[in-house]
Amino acid sequence: MEDKLIEHYSSRPEIDRLTMRSGLLEAARTQELLLRYLPEGATVLDVGGGDGFYAEWLARRGHPVQLLDAVPLHVEEARRRAGQPPLFDAQVGDARRLPFEDGCFDAVLVLGPLYHLVQREERVLALREAARVCAPGGFVLAAAISRLAPALDGIGNGWIVDEHKFETVLLQLAEGASGDREPGFPAISYFHHAEELAQEAREARLDVQGVLGIEGPAGFLPDLETRWGDRVMRERILWLARTLETEPVGLAMSGHLLLVARA
Ligand SMILES: C[S@@+](CC[C@H](N)C(=O)[O-])C[C@H]1O[C@@H](n2cnc3c(N)ncnc32)[C@H](O)[C@@H]1O
Repeated sequence: MEDKLIEHYSSRPEIDRLTMRSGLLEAARTQELLLRYLPEGATVLDVGGGDGFYAEWLARRGHPVQLLDAVPLHVEEARRRAGQPPLFDAQVGDARRLPFEDGCFDAVLVLGPLYHLVQREERVLALREAARVCAPGGFVLAAAISRLAPALDGIGNGWIVDEHKFETVLLQLAEGASGDREPGFPAISYFHHAEELAQEAREARLDVQGVLGIEGPAGFLPDLETRWGDRVMRERILWLARTLETEPVGLAMSGHLLLVARA
């Protein structure tokens, strides 16, 4: 899996993902939700932290942050972002085998690994590891890509008129993963139903507080970036995401889901 992951991210680097298109909304809403749950000054482990977008933001807000990611290129980018002296630490590692003592972080973020762990037992293992290294009662916040995302994306970007890609979208919709087929979302992607994510967290012995929709339906607007530039429109897009965050329809129509749980 690591080789495929590295190959995937070599051709699609993470840099700038959260500063364009639907990433703008994903980042704004994720930050809003992190502020809601992370106590001031809490030590944070950012598992699958990529190039350090959230790690830098949290460190600048006064959180001691440790980032861990499976892709060495991302860790290099994160270290560059952390600067000198480093704002936060970054290291290569696997969400399924965290190299930390039990209970040594106040909060743990898992914003990425569950997208790429296709086997259920691996996702439960990653969540169990997050629970283990989090202090008892601390928040574990874990993101997933929602089951409908490939289909809703496919409407916007035209995959659904391509026979091969459409078949893949149907497979992802039915099974959550597409085996070796490849329509933009790689074969190493998994797409969750909200309740499925909650079940996996319970199996990892986490105390589930809820699953929230991150972007809401506006995340699939093809011209989101243009609309985001309009202050009133942006506020309404955010309002919609907040208002629908716990509605079953809002969850289903959100590109990403956020598990909120306590260790
Ligand atoms: C889409 S990126 C998200 C990065 C960042 N957290 C964000 O939200 O923008 C997914 C990240 O998860 C990392 N990842 C995937 N599987 C992982 C694993 N088993 N252990 C650690 N990191 C993993 C990838 O290398 C990648 O950096």
